[in-house]
Amino acid sequence: MATPAARIPESAFTPEVEARTAHLFERVKRVIPAVEWPVFAPDIDAILELKRRRNAVVLAHNYQTPEIFHTVADIVGDSLALAREAVNVDADVIVLCGVHFMAETAKLLNPEKTVLIPDLRAGCSLAESITAEDVRGLKARHPGVPVVTYVNTSAAVKAESDVCCTSGNAVHVVESLGVDRVIFIPDEYLAKNVAAQTRVGIIPWPGHCEVHERFTPADIASIRASHPGIVVLAHPECDRPVVEAADYAGSTHGMAKYVADHKPRQVALITECSMSDNVAVANPDVEFVRPCNLCPHMKRITLGRIRHALETMTHEVTIDPAVAGRARAAVERMLAIGPPPVLQP
Ligand code: 13P
Ligand code: SF4
Repeated sequence: MATPAARIPESAFTPEVEARTAHLFERVKRVIPAVEWPVFAPDIDAILELKRRRNAVVLAHNYQTPEIFHTVADIVGDSLALAREAVNVDADVIVLCGVHFMAETAKLLNPEKTVLIPDLRAGCSLAESITAEDVRGLKARHPGVPVVTYVNTSAAVKAESDVCCTSGNAVHVVESLGVDRVIFIPDEYLAKNVAAQTRVGIIPWPGHCEVHERFTPADIASIRASHPGIVVLAHPECDRPVVEAADYAGSTHGMAKYVADHKPRQVALITECSMSDNVAVANPDVEFVRPCNLCPHMKRITLGRIRHALETMTHEVTIDPAVAGRARAAVERMLAIGPPPVLQP
């Protein structure tokens, strides 16, 4: 059968674009007003066509906006899921809609594929908080103590580490090492939250997420006062008193799963703003109260920039060969440890 000729992507909300994207609007209409759809639809339509042409897949983190998350993404999830799924991608090109360390992780696991990030400036305050030199200093001060590194770090920092972890498996990774102390970098608050769940001694680093450090226990008290009976879920990048004031703490995947499993009448997700929109689409009966903070780095990724990335094949993520092998080994050791055990309530 002849291959259909490639379409020229359109830039206007024509009747053809409207018809081709109508099923996608149906999916997101609870969180995207109809008046905004004509702005998004031409880029969505073009990205779908460009993905076919380039043999590309789009991986999107849970903090991407709903017009990205629910329409052009092929694979969505938390940092752990994106790393796991990156290993199985069967395409020539990966477009990583998230922040730079996530694109680096995808590239580490797919050295032969082209990995694009739509905006090179999409960084992370945790990744900025520590350098490879800092890790070498910590190892010199604590000889023989293994280094467990949160994936929110550069490849150069991962290369100095024994194993990586995410917020979804941190306790499990720490305990799997069979040691009595670990250096746990760079998130001080995640370190405190891990320390509260294990007997393994934790040597932390004073890095913070600029989004989650802004939440306070007083925020949660005020939500509870104005919404009696509300369920409060927090990301473990929040400080310990915030996590203690919540009903549950978990990775972005953990929070989404909690809502899907428990279907609370009202819920507040103490995390980045797009999480609530994305989880709301799949849970129409749950009311979301939104005391959220925006991640300016995640918000650098837009439909226009994804389209531009696929049109021009920019910005390609590359990793210094001097660190790539050791960084990959730290990520692969995490993946080999496997998922945490499922705890019965
Ligand atoms: P998750 O791994 O829970 O998705 O978190 C990543 C992140 O950057 C949260 O701020
Ligand atoms: Fe980094 Fe915080 Fe943004 Fe996550 S939310 S990418 S940890 S700055």
